[in-house]
Amino acid sequence: MMVDLHFYLNQNEIRTSVPAGMLVLDFVRQHHRLTGVKEGCKEGDCGACVVLVGELAGSEVKYKAITSCMMPVGGLHGKHLVTIEGLSGEELSSVQQAIVDEGGAQCGFCTPGIVVSLTGALIGREEPMDLEATKEALGGHLCRCTGYRSLKAVWSHPLEADLPAYFERMPDRLGLIEATPAGDGRPDAILALAGGTDLYVQNGDDIPTRPIAVLNLDHSLKGIEQTQSHLEVGALTTFEEFSQHPDVRSVIPDIGTYMGQIASLQIRNLATLGGNIVNASPIGDVTILLLALGCDLEFTSTQGVRTVGMDDFFLGYKKLDMRSGEILRKIKLPPANGAKLNWEKVSKRKFLDIATVNSAIRITDEDGVITEARIAVGGVAPIPLLLKETNALLSGRPINPETVLAAVESAQREISPISDIRGSAAYKRLLTRQLIIAHFADLYPSRASVRLVYEACQLCI
Ligand SMILES: Cc1cc2nc3c(=O)[nH]c(=O)nc-3n(C[C@H](O)[C@H](O)[C@H](O)COP(=O)(O)OP(=O)(O)OC[C@H]3O[C@@H](n4cnc5c(N)ncnc54)[C@H](O)[C@@H]3O)c2cc1C
Ligand code: FES
Ligand code: FES
Repeated sequence: MMVDLHFYLNQNEIRTSVPAGMLVLDFVRQHHRLTGVKEGCKEGDCGACVVLVGELAGSEVKYKAITSCMMPVGGLHGKHLVTIEGLSGEELSSVQQAIVDEGGAQCGFCTPGIVVSLTGALIGREEPMDLEATKEALGGHLCRCTGYRSLKAVWSHPLEADLPAYFERMPDRLGLIEATPAGDGRPDAILALAGGTDLYVQNGDDIPTRPIAVLNLDHSLKGIEQTQSHLEVGALTTFEEFSQHPDVRSVIPDIGTYMGQIASLQIRNLATLGGNIVNASPIGDVTILLLALGCDLEFTSTQGVRTVGMDDFFLGYKKLDMRSGEILRKIKLPPANGAKLNWEKVSKRKFLDIATVNSAIRITDEDGVITEARIAVGGVAPIPLLLKETNALLSGRPINPETVLAAVESAQREISPISDIRGSAAYKRLLTRQLIIAHFADLYPSRASVRLVYEACQLCI
C-alpha cells in the first residue's frame, strides 16, 4: 500500500510514504529518534510505548492514549501524534512533579508512558482528577520496580494537563489536511488492518512488508447511527467509542461496567468491534455480547453489499461466512424492546486478561414467563457459541430455579470445551454452569437467586 500520509508528530508536520503497516513505535524511534517512547513487550501489555493520538472533532482535537506498538503509521493520517518529547517543556509538568514527589519512579523505563497516559486523562477533563480516573489511566501500565501505591497517589496532587503552547494551533493545522491521503489505499491488498491489536500480536514482523488495507483511512466504516429498525455501528468503532456512546448505552445500559473488564483503556482506544468479530476468537468478549444480542453483519465488496446474521457467521474454528475481498462494514444491533441483558467473564486475573469462559444473555419475559432467550458462551467450543438448543428450551418456561437448572443441563450437552492453558475442560464446564446461574441471579434476583437455585439443586452444593 503506497499512500502519502500527512500528519503532525509533536510540533512537526510530517509527510511520509513509509509502509502504512509500519508500527508507530518503530516510526518514532527509528525514523525520528524519539526514544522516550519505550519498547517493552511489543504486545500491548506493558504501556511503555504509550503515545497520544489526537483527532479533530468539530473545532477541537480529542486525544486518546494508545499503545504505539499496536498501531500502524497508516492510521495517523490527518491526526496529531504526541510522544513524551512533545509534552515536555523546560519545567516539569504537574504530572511529572507529582510522580517525583510521590517517589513514583526508580529505573524510569515505565515513566514516560505513564506520564503520557495520565496527561491524556487530564486533557479536556473538567473536574479534578480522582482515584478511579487515575487507576483507569494506569491500568495498561506495568512498573516492575516502584510499585503502584506511589503512582496511584499522584491523583491527590493538583494535576493539570500543562500542554505546550503549540497545542493551541493543532485544530487549525489538522483542519488543513485532506481527509483521505493521496495514493492508492487498497491495491491488491490481502489483509485488512483495523486496530491492529490482534494482527500485530499474531503477525507483527510481517505486516509492514505485506500489501495491507489500512481500514482506518475509510471513513465510511466509522460512526454510530440510530435507524428506524437498528442501531448501526461502523465496524471500525473502537471498544471505547462503543461503550461511551449514548445510543449504545440505551441498548446496553451496563456496557461501561463490562468494558472495565475488557483489555486496558490504551487497547480499547484501538481495538475495533469489527476486528473482534472477524478475528473469530472463541473468547472474544465483545463478540459474545453481540452474539447474544442477535446482530446482523453487513459486508461490502466489489460485488456489492451482503448481510449475514451473526448466528450463522461462525462456521468452525476461524472459519467464517465471509467471502474473499469482503470487508465488514456495519454491525446492526436490534433495539432494546424491553429485553434484559447480562454479560459475565471469568479470567485468571480479574482485569487485563483474556477470558477462560465468558457469556452473555439477552432475555425477554412477560409476567415471569420467558418469551425469548439468547445465551451465548465463549471458550467452550471452537467458535463463539450461541446455545441454540438451550435457548429454544427456555422459551415459554417460567423463570424459576428449575428452569435455570434445565438450561444448565442443556448447555452442558451443547458445549465441547477442551483443556488448555486457561483451564481444564471440566473447569470450563463448571464455569458455564456458574455463569448461567449468574445471569438469572443478576436479572431475576427474586425468582432465581443463587440461593434459590442452589436449594433446588443438590449437585450444585
Ligand atoms: C493487550 C491486549 C489485550 C486484549 N484484551 C482483550 C480482551 O480483554 N478481550 C477481547 O475480546 N480481546 C482482547 N484483545 C484482543 C483484541 O484487542 C480484540 O480482538 C480487538 O477487537 C481486535 O480488533 P482490531 O481492530 O485491533 O483488529 P485487527 O488486529 O486489526 O484485525 C483482526 C482481524 O480482523 C480482520 N478485520 C478487522 N476489521 C475488519 C473489517 N472491518 N472487515 C474485515 N476484516 C476485518 C483483520 O484482517 C484481522 O484478521 C486484546 C489484545 C491485546 C493486544
Ligand atoms: S511495548 Fe509494551 S505495550 Fe507497547
Ligand atoms: S520505575 Fe522501573 S519499571 Fe517502573
